[in-house]
Amino acid sequence: MASITTKEQMSSTNVKEITARYTYGTWRKQKGWNPLQIVEAEGCYFSDSNGKRYLDFSGQLMCLPLGHQNPAVIQSIVDQARKLAYVAPGYTTTVRAALSKLLLEVLPKGLEKFFFTTSGTDANEAAFKIARMASGKSKIISRYRSYHGSTAGSIAATGDPRRWAMEPAGKMPGVVFAPEVNCYKCPIGHNYPGCGIACVEYVEHMIRNESDVAAVIVEPIVGTNGVLVPPREYMPRLREICDQNQVLLIADEVMSGWCRTGRWFAMDHWGVVPDILTTAKGITNAAVPLGLCATTQRIASCFDDRFFSHGHTYEAHPLMLAPAIASIHEMQRLDLATRAAEMGAYLGEKLTELKSRHPSIGDVRGLGMFWGVDMVKNRETKSPFNTAEEKIAGKPLLVDRIASQMMVKGVYLSSWISHFVIAPPLIIEKAEIDFAVSVLDEALQLADQESQN
Ligand SMILES: Cc1ncc(COP(=O)(O)O)c(C=O)c1O
Repeated sequence: MASITTKEQMSSTNVKEITARYTYGTWRKQKGWNPLQIVEAEGCYFSDSNGKRYLDFSGQLMCLPLGHQNPAVIQSIVDQARKLAYVAPGYTTTVRAALSKLLLEVLPKGLEKFFFTTSGTDANEAAFKIARMASGKSKIISRYRSYHGSTAGSIAATGDPRRWAMEPAGKMPGVVFAPEVNCYKCPIGHNYPGCGIACVEYVEHMIRNESDVAAVIVEPIVGTNGVLVPPREYMPRLREICDQNQVLLIADEVMSGWCRTGRWFAMDHWGVVPDILTTAKGITNAAVPLGLCATTQRIASCFDDRFFSHGHTYEAHPLMLAPAIASIHEMQRLDLATRAAEMGAYLGEKLTELKSRHPSIGDVRGLGMFWGVDMVKNRETKSPFNTAEEKIAGKPLLVDRIASQMMVKGVYLSSWISHFVIAPPLIIEKAEIDFAVSVLDEALQLADQESQN
């Protein structure tokens, strides 16, 4: 391996080699990791060390509503760093109060007490602890097609195969899994609407038979695991079931929040207020790590005279809160929710048109600027090109080959097992959508050739 000293200018080869040798590549086998070095980014684009520019069609990890390097957000970090970079969470700051007031404006009404974390993962950890402490009960119901984070509690509640490595001993006990809502490929073999949304009725059956259930956690629109949009009756019915059984409802809006779906939060589409809402990513436009666990006053009041047994050194860190204020102001100024709804409809049309020409696309679904393209070997059987087992085994996946080909053409698209997740910055223009879709169109030939349709 090429050696470097601190004085030496690092070449791109050095940077990649050192990174791969001394740091972990996440969610992958380590051998063969050759990370692309990114040197700058602006708006909907980022550039590598060779000066090649990429259109960011998934906003990195679906976390950039305002696009890269939003000037107001960046400035807010600089200003706050000069003013007050850190103070312990037992004190308060202007930014803590200002952000709290602002959150009351944009969150579903009734969520009024906040715990600030440093990621989506620990926002969910906080949610589980709060739900358990407040209810005095212990079990959590989650769903199979889900991701809620990487630490003991949040990975225990994760339905997708990233959980497998932690079983049986490395995760929090007490999580049970319900079937996900997936009207394209129903896990319990039903067809909507004739099913009477049996998947949510089954959650009630689970609550009654499990007993001791503290909370149900859902991604209102499942993100990484396929952009699964529930039918409109699902969330109101889930709210009813939770209320009737004294179970708390946790909405994990880490990916679906911050105007992504055409509303501030996905739950707003159904007028359903969860007892706890967790979020992260877009809250600071991903410029600094910040997560939020928001609860109702009813839950908060459980701790009025009781020890709130949770905290972090970096809770309510001023450097995280200032860019959240700037991000929310920018989203308001640009009316990003409306823009996501309008541009999202255009994006949806383009993708649906793509489906009509590519036999390898089984389903296209989404809301606002949040879309999934589900790839199938066979439209009849809906069999995917690859499986979760193959993903974990590190086998080359068809969707990754397509994504790599798109990178060559200058478009970044997030792929997972046998589908794509499209979530560009909400400032994207129609011409950029056209370009990205045309690159996907071309790359899909690879899948069409291998499909059995
Ligand atoms: C729905 C959802 N919940 C939780 C998380 C975990 O968030 P973080 O990666 O910030 O810990 C993610 C991350 O992708 C997510 O999509």
